[in-house]
Amino acid sequence: MVKPETLFKASSEVGREFFRPHRKALSPLGSGQARTSHVMVPIRSIGPSHGPRIAAHLLALAPQDRYLRFGYAANDEQIQRYVDGINFERDEIFGIFNRRLQLIAMAHLAFATDPQLKSCAEFGVSVLAHARGRGYGARLFERAVIHARNEGVEMMFIHALSENTAMLNIARKAGATIERDGGESQAYLKLSPADLDSRMSEMFQEHIAQTDYRLKFQAHQFGHFLALLQEMRRSVQGGGDFLPK
Ligand SMILES: CC(C)(COP(=O)(O)OP(=O)(O)OC[C@H]1O[C@@H](n2cnc3c(N)ncnc32)[C@H](O)[C@@H]1OP(=O)(O)O)[C@@H](O)C(=O)NCCC(=O)NCCS
Repeated sequence: MVKPETLFKASSEVGREFFRPHRKALSPLGSGQARTSHVMVPIRSIGPSHGPRIAAHLLALAPQDRYLRFGYAANDEQIQRYVDGINFERDEIFGIFNRRLQLIAMAHLAFATDPQLKSCAEFGVSVLAHARGRGYGARLFERAVIHARNEGVEMMFIHALSENTAMLNIARKAGATIERDGGESQAYLKLSPADLDSRMSEMFQEHIAQTDYRLKFQAHQFGHFLALLQEMRRSVQGGGDFLPK
């Protein structure tokens, strides 16, 4: 019988070789834009079925983080409206899940609606407080850059408050130009055109992330099943009629 620990282990070990730090990892930004990836994290593209998880993630952000993420202190209702308004057909949402399938980090790559600006996209990101400082924000940025390049985007924008050192650090390290205008800053990064590396890299990363998610999902479901089984056993021991004697 497959034990949940086995599934958890398989999930965490999936493609372990691939997740090893690469000394000379290819830059997702393309040639000429140096950025070395130190950690590879399973980041998957997520769709509308994850709406409730996206909402739970954003609602878990503290008021100050909501302010940094949205540029205003979004209340619960405004966050729900934002989630309901995500255009999953046009935009791309990327997520990092923990073993309990909680969305601990997510990014929204929003493509311009104006056809004349279709070579531009905007990046927004959030990481739950307990998961910060592990490089998830930077990895999500790199993942979004690869996708944007493959979609023909030439310029990526990040709107951040000037006090948002972490976000501006991520953008600066990726080679973005930052223009500060008082309390607000606009960062923009010119992207290299897509190439074989960027296409292969996206396919590979998505495949690994989907596999990782599937294993976590199975382990999660199996955990529920075992808990139910345990409950039934206890009921039988206690003289209940959960199972036929
Ligand atoms: C911004 C945010 C996404 C960063 O996530 P993260 O996973 O902690 O970021 P990383 O671990 O990838 O760190 C990125 C860089 O910022 C630095 N950094 C992280 N937190 C920092 C902080 N509080 N102050 C200064 N620098 C910080 C890191 O050291 C790292 O720089 P380095 O590569 O030179 O070491 C996260 O803080 C967050 O969700 N904030 C609230 C929402 C928000 O501000 N979104 C951005 C606007 S769209």
